Amino acid sequence: MKYVVVGSGLFGSVFAHEAAKRGHNVVVLEKRNHVGGNIYTKEIEGIQVHEYGAHIFHTNNKDIWTYINNFSDFNNYINSPIANYKDEIYNLPFNMNTFNKLWGVIKPEDAKSKIESQKKELNINNNPSNLEEQAISLVGIDVYKKLVKGYTEKQWGKSAKNLPAFIIRRLPVRFTYDNNYFNDTYQGIPIGGYTPIIEKMLDSKLIDVKLNTDFFDHRNEYLNSNCKIIFTGMIDQFFDYKLGELEYRSLKFDTRVLNQNNYQGNAVVNYTDSETKFTRIIEHKHFEFGKGNKNMTVVTKEFPQKWHRGCEPYYPINDKNNKVLYSQYVKMAKKEQPNVVFGGRLGQYRYYNMDQTIMAALQIVKREL
Ligand code: FDA
Repeated sequence: MKYVVVGSGLFGSVFAHEAAKRGHNVVVLEKRNHVGGNIYTKEIEGIQVHEYGAHIFHTNNKDIWTYINNFSDFNNYINSPIANYKDEIYNLPFNMNTFNKLWGVIKPEDAKSKIESQKKELNINNNPSNLEEQAISLVGIDVYKKLVKGYTEKQWGKSAKNLPAFIIRRLPVRFTYDNNYFNDTYQGIPIGGYTPIIEKMLDSKLIDVKLNTDFFDHRNEYLNSNCKIIFTGMIDQFFDYKLGELEYRSLKFDTRVLNQNNYQGNAVVNYTDSETKFTRIIEHKHFEFGKGNKNMTVVTKEFPQKWHRGCEPYYPINDKNNKVLYSQYVKMAKKEQPNVVFGGRLGQYRYYNMDQTIMAALQIVKREL
């Protein structure tokens, strides 16, 4: 069987790798000028730059951790972001270090009772009607005002009062002095970056990668062939937006090379006030413990953007309307395109972490191959 994989991101590359391993021929079409999709990294001054936003691999799934370690060694990076609120510095996720800095509390029970008293003061009931009420009911007013409100409003481009409560089902709050953002057992950054992982996955005589090739320029040719298509682009675009557009939030990245060794002392610093237009600054060398040029550093500011056709879709907006629309596209796909499998974050209109993307791709492998 011959497969055409549209997109050389993590999903497409895992599928292509597994198909070739089983003796199938695969053509990978990639519209960008490089492989890897959003996990692509590029070396600048000996530093692995995460071109499409910070990517930290983390998972609780031992099989997935073993799987990805077949393609690279990982360092023992632990994600411990910092929040900068008008030049006040706080630890994330919200933990005893954060609460101590905010209120001077030392014991967990003092932090808990402070949050409880703030919740009571504002009389938030158990059924919050918007994101603001939901966040205050989880962390109290001080944490909300300094660390949640501005960041979230920038991220979504809307007032927290006009955002649905479900976006923040839970906020990571911990009553320990632990700055590790993730609770997962396995965590790290691939030594040498993510691009070599993808290159290794696609390194087979049976895989033909065509860069700078948009599926939609060759749609009829591939749809009329006998190949099975694994499509990891946007499902609504595949159907020419016939039922309407699925909504996304987009991002703009401003990356600069600076003539200094150390700009901010941490890989990830979130700017949580509403006046600063960007949400965070990534200093890439801190993912790798002092690797790269000692006199230079590379930093990236992330600016959330309204999405429109033609700009890069990053975060699906999984509200009720979009969910309904997506399920209509799925029905259409089943009826009209039985030879096409829609996968990955764009094909399945879902926010997938990298471990979930691999899991989803391996599920399709199991079903198809
Ligand atoms: P991805 O978008 O990577 O790949 C799709 C590919 O298809 C792209 O290369 C695209 O160019 C191509 N394509 C689309 N349409 C096409 C067409 N018509 N023709 C040809 N090619 C086409 N996860 C995690 O575990 N830890 C983290 O820290 C982060 N951080 C993070 C930050 C940001 C800003 C985002 C947006 C996401 C993350 N993620 C993450 C999630 C991670 O990026 C995600 O799991 C994978 O990149 C998903 O891989 P896919 O292959 O599904 O999509």
